[in-house]
Amino acid sequence: MKTTFPLGQFQKIETPFYYYDTERLDKTLATVAKLGRENGFRIHYALKANANEPILRRISAYGYGADCVSGYEVRRALETGFNPSDIVFAGVGKADWEIELGLDQGISCFNSESIQELGVINELAARKGVKAPVALRINPHVDAHTHHYITTGIEENKFGINPWDWDKVIKFLETAPNLEWKGLHFHIGSQITNFDVFKGLCTRINEIQAWFACNNLTPRIINVGGGLGIDYSNPDSDGPDFRTYFDIFKKHLDLQFGQEVHFEPGRALVAQSGSLISKVLYVKEGVKTRFAILDAGMTELIRPALYQAFHVIENLTSNAPATLYDVVGPICESSDCFGKAVNLPETRRGDLIAIRSAGAYGETMSSNYNLREKVKTWYSDEIPSDESSTYTPSGKQAG
Ligand code: LLP
Repeated sequence: MKTTFPLGQFQKIETPFYYYDTERLDKTLATVAKLGRENGFRIHYALKANANEPILRRISAYGYGADCVSGYEVRRALETGFNPSDIVFAGVGKADWEIELGLDQGISCFNSESIQELGVINELAARKGVKAPVALRINPHVDAHTHHYITTGIEENKFGINPWDWDKVIKFLETAPNLEWKGLHFHIGSQITNFDVFKGLCTRINEIQAWFACNNLTPRIINVGGGLGIDYSNPDSDGPDFRTYFDIFKKHLDLQFGQEVHFEPGRALVAQSGSLISKVLYVKEGVKTRFAILDAGMTELIRPALYQAFHVIENLTSNAPATLYDVVGPICESSDCFGKAVNLPETRRGDLIAIRSAGAYGETMSSNYNLREKVKTWYSDEIPSDESSTYTPSGKQAG
């Protein structure tokens, strides 16, 4: 699925900006929704990956539910077409107003991570005279083998309820009349590309639900979270293999009659449809390094600075012979670097640069550090096509 960049139009738009290939997004959403239905799985999209309204409207229209981690995300989901009964609310520290919002709106489940929080949910629900649907987020102690900042399911992480607390939680649920227990929730990390990790998760879930069953609690819902990774080095590849991913859960999870399996993908649905488009401000010769200084920085895309994440960087407007550049932003931090020793065609002031696969955790993690303003967003279906000057990422330019 190749993204084509309408260069003629890009020249008229103020940079930097985010650009989304809506055709690619639609194809991904349609394919994954169909696979989910065929397997009988329920998919809640994780808003934290990208919460742009036009994108969320598309996602809700395809029938996905919403996985939210703040009251603000719950509000955004409600505004963009998700039914309250299709919204789940996770997060290790929900404030009282956020819990009340979820209760007032009648969302489908609070994924809770501590006895203390369960206590507060029970109390707030009692005050309102309602029952709160809850699932227990379990820390399964399964290593996701991904960057340590986005590993969430091992003992040292703050997430989930640890095995030594399960007895206490069960006892607490028995004494909490305003909680309605729905099931178990897991999420072991993000950008997971080794499918064996998901097999390991299934094995562990089977053990955990057997333990709960021995204690007379059979979960109606098993929520396996998100985490499916993408291939950042091939932005135009077809995207993650959802078929194999779903098959793993189909094959390896021991399901009881009537149990539902829920998923919460974020990145895998949206990442490859988005690019950050920027202009080269200056090219500066260092001692051993040539710097291409862009007008976009870590304020627009923090992933390289925060996780040393790799994104393909392309010069959309130069065909000159290639050489190496450190591609950096204008922010007053040395970590404001998108890539070191990047092989680019000779680059000059004014060239357009695309930083690919930036549709997930790009805009949602942007900041106004250095008092920079939020950049604009463009969607391919709102830009008039201009065949005279397009760029396809095979490296060839037309026109
Ligand atoms: N469910 C829960 C409970 C989560 O915490 C997350 C992500 C997801 C689902 C969606 O995970 P995904 O399918 O997108 O991997 N900012 C980092 C990623 C942080 C992910 C946080 N939780 C990055 O840019 O790589």
